[in-house]
Amino acid sequence: MHLLIPAAGSGSRMKEEWTRQGKVQRNKLFLPLLGQPILAWTLLAAQSAPTIEWIGLIAQPDDWPDVKTLLATLALTKPVAFIPGGDTRQASVYNGLRDLPSGAARVLIHDGARCLVTPDLLDRCSAALDHCQGFVAAIPVKDTIKVVAPESQVVQATPDRRQLWAAQTPQGFDVAALRHCHDQGVQQRWSVTDDAALFEQGGLPVEIVPGEETNLKVTTPMDLAIAQFILHQRGLDPHQLAFFKT
Ligand code: C5P
Repeated sequence: MHLLIPAAGSGSRMKEEWTRQGKVQRNKLFLPLLGQPILAWTLLAAQSAPTIEWIGLIAQPDDWPDVKTLLATLALTKPVAFIPGGDTRQASVYNGLRDLPSGAARVLIHDGARCLVTPDLLDRCSAALDHCQGFVAAIPVKDTIKVVAPESQVVQATPDRRQLWAAQTPQGFDVAALRHCHDQGVQQRWSVTDDAALFEQGGLPVEIVPGEETNLKVTTPMDLAIAQFILHQRGLDPHQLAFFKT
């Protein structure tokens, strides 16, 4: 399976964490988490998932030297291709689809910021593409969700919670179909925050693969603290990586 990892964001909501650490703000995926950059944990999970054969790392060229250093430290055995990031996540994934090897028929897309993904979830996602064209890993929402008017801040609706799922990554697709949806998205100026949404707008079915509650996206300093707690719970520290050995 081919895996694209979008890792080209700026992580503006982590500004205060960089300041707290006395460092200049940059891509949040380089913030340390138990002694390794956040991105290292994502890459180690991909390395340890037997179904993943190729990794396309989408990053801003400014970050490439540091990514190369990181890869040398991790000594991954799987091939990793560098793909330039775009101005939005959507544009970054578009670049990733363009740079997939020619034989790639199916693809998983997993955000670099979801660094707690397990190899098991990646493998279950690869298997899902044996029977569907598109899927999203997701979990049922626990909170009651309100639809709120942006200006008045008045609640407009309370959707039935039993129908609501929180979308995660990995998401996976037939490559030709997803490319077509991305092309349509560019032509018709769709602006989306995940690839499943492009598939939906293109009129194609997206199935659910049960995600993991721990598969959080590290967005704020609080998420970083929770991620550290979860890795400790798993008995993981940078010197004890048995979980990731294949
Ligand atoms: O900002 P957010 O955490 O929602 O971004 C989700 C993922 O998309 C992150 O892993 C981030 O690095 C990536 N991204 C990207 N290119 C962008 C913006 C975000 O690859 N221009």
